[in-house]
Amino acid sequence: MKKVLLPLIMVLVLATIPFVGVTYGKLDYLFAVIIPYASVAILLLGFLYRMVDWLRRPVPFRIPTTCGQEKSLDWIKDNPIESPSNPFMAAVRVLSEVLLFRSLFRNTKAELHGGSRLAYGSHKWLWLGGLAFHWSLLIIVIRHARFFFDTMPFPIELIDDLDRFLDVTVPALYLTDGVALAAVTFLFLRRLQDEKLRLISLATDYFPLLLIATIAVLGVSMRYVTKVDIMPIKALALGLASFSLDAPQPIAALFYVHLFLVCVLFCYVPFSKLMHMGGIFLSPTRNLPNNSRAKRHVNPWNPDIKFRTYAEYEDDYREKMKKAGIPVEKQ
Ligand code: HEM
Repeated sequence: MKKVLLPLIMVLVLATIPFVGVTYGKLDYLFAVIIPYASVAILLLGFLYRMVDWLRRPVPFRIPTTCGQEKSLDWIKDNPIESPSNPFMAAVRVLSEVLLFRSLFRNTKAELHGGSRLAYGSHKWLWLGGLAFHWSLLIIVIRHARFFFDTMPFPIELIDDLDRFLDVTVPALYLTDGVALAAVTFLFLRRLQDEKLRLISLATDYFPLLLIATIAVLGVSMRYVTKVDIMPIKALALGLASFSLDAPQPIAALFYVHLFLVCVLFCYVPFSKLMHMGGIFLSPTRNLPNNSRAKRHVNPWNPDIKFRTYAEYEDDYREKMKKAGIPVEKQ
């Protein structure tokens, strides 16, 4: 229980800081300008540092994980995606993983039936929930670009229009809002409901979920419930994007909580498991082609060893060996 309560308390405390700061401390400038810039700097530099650090790690061995027949003789049918033999197919595999969570689609669940019979079954819920969570968040973040542009670029406008095509509420309901909230709830409850998962889940698994859920709930309440005034927020966002460093006009405290938690999320990314968004591209089990048989890979760190053959050894000691009665190959 501590593993869930601790992150929950942390998120609540974090949410209180900007609320109190803006409402009672008049710290609008700190929360509207200074902290957002600082968090973006931490995100970018931290992300870059982690990626460069990983990029510099040597990868001396071919260790791709494969799930299909490797390319070999012409008459043996290979599986170019599950066992990519060249960098292009390896890139296709990484991208299909990133965009479609391919390997998660194969997820299975092992269950005991009747007390002792172990049965494996297909289990697609995690794949579906994960996909819905990541895609809806991505679309929400892309849609937020509307605050940072005077006129919305066409692709973003298109995404925005498609997302609210239902048009059943005022303001129009974004589909991704519902999907994101449902998905984050599913991912959170999934960890709690399963005994095995509860055991292996850590506070660091719950914290980002709770943080993102709170950001989304605050966003949704601002849009559909409290109906926050967008004009000063847009002015602030445009100012931030153009580095004007202007003080913000008065904005509802709820917005500052939303923004501050986003800043916390930005700062948290480089130091946490959320770095999987960059790490997936550098994972050698994924990004290396499986061509160990077609190509000889020599470990580049192998020291340049000077070998001494038996013939050379015998040349050096032949006379002594003969004297000692040891048989020699060359007389
Ligand atoms: C990780 C980043 C963020 C996430 C996940 C997020 C999430 C959300 C969600 C789910 C909503 C509900 C409505 C919608 O989908 O548009 C929302 C609304 C909102 N967000 Fe964010 N947000 C993020 C960053 C930001 C930032 C940086 C700003 C600063 C400009 C911001 C300002 C707002 C505002 C003003 C609304 C209300 C929109 C409206 O009334 O139409 N958000 N946010």
